[in-house]
Amino acid sequence: IKVGILFGGQSVEHEISILSAQSIYESIDKEKYDVVLIGIDKQGGWHFSDEQIFLEYNASRRLKSLTNKIDQQLALIPGRKVDFLYQLSTQEKTKPVDVVFPVLHGTNGEDGSIQGFLKLSGIPFVGAGILGSAIGMDKEVTKRLLRDADIPIPHYQVVRQVDSNRIDPLQIQAEFGLPLFIKPANLGSSVGISKVKVVDEIKPAIDIAFLYDQKILIEECILGREIECSVLGNEHPEASLPGEIKPNHEFYSYQAKYLDENGANLEVPAKLPDNLIKKIQEAALKVFQVLEIEGMARVDFFLQEDGKLLVNEVNTIPGFTQISMYPKLWEASGLSYKDLITRLIELAIE
Ligand code: DAL
Ligand code: MG
Repeated sequence: IKVGILFGGQSVEHEISILSAQSIYESIDKEKYDVVLIGIDKQGGWHFSDEQIFLEYNASRRLKSLTNKIDQQLALIPGRKVDFLYQLSTQEKTKPVDVVFPVLHGTNGEDGSIQGFLKLSGIPFVGAGILGSAIGMDKEVTKRLLRDADIPIPHYQVVRQVDSNRIDPLQIQAEFGLPLFIKPANLGSSVGISKVKVVDEIKPAIDIAFLYDQKILIEECILGREIECSVLGNEHPEASLPGEIKPNHEFYSYQAKYLDENGANLEVPAKLPDNLIKKIQEAALKVFQVLEIEGMARVDFFLQEDGKLLVNEVNTIPGFTQISMYPKLWEASGLSYKDLITRLIELAIE
């Protein structure tokens, strides 16, 4: 079976995607699968790549040298440039791959775009379909659906760019208290997110979020633990043991996630009583189904001291390096990294 690993992409999470793909490439069962590496550069060009790409690109080093302006960086993926889009989409019978594992985080990769293209091309793919991907990428639509299903979420307000001149920081402060969070509705890896502690920072934080999206969220700051749970499956999904994020920064920011080696500690599994583990797993499965997700997702929660559980967000293509939360939680639950990859591919073609 020929598996296309699709990575990079026109997203602010381009570099993270390369790290995830490199990890998957190293561990995928090469006796079962022939791997075809397909890199998408930041301009949207598609490249067949050999494994050398990971050495040449050296994503880890590159990631560390990136500044806050990561979105302005031009990362070119070496390799043979091809009209791969055409080859994949052509209706001819011999496809260059039998199944695709999109290891693309964020814009165009995790939001249903690639999923739509692959569906039209008749190529099965790992993870959520068009609808689940699009829902999961949009934090605001996610919240509306969760609210409709009586799943607790933080108090929030959505602001669209056309209405941005009507924002009154004092009113926001009165409604949400401080600190509060301001975030773009459709990004990942905490890009564009600010934790605002004084009223004067509200306007600049809103301006930053609008650099990335035309729709942003203002959200109350929940005091509590950050708990994550991995879900795997299609009609009968299963939930892993939960894990805990312990950020050493103000919050689990891009900096804390990737640039600072001591930015956060992952506790896998989280230290929790059995009844709460069960509650978290049940909630994660409900979220997965309410949001129409298939294949996989990592569901991120806040757990308050009184035991109240609120959903923060979901990620349908979560960080996938060996040390990322999604696969680590499965490992702690008895499914190795390599077997997890196999399972995901099987779910895609079942
Ligand atoms: N968006 C990043 C990759 C994550 O949620 O893991
Ligand atoms: Mg995320």
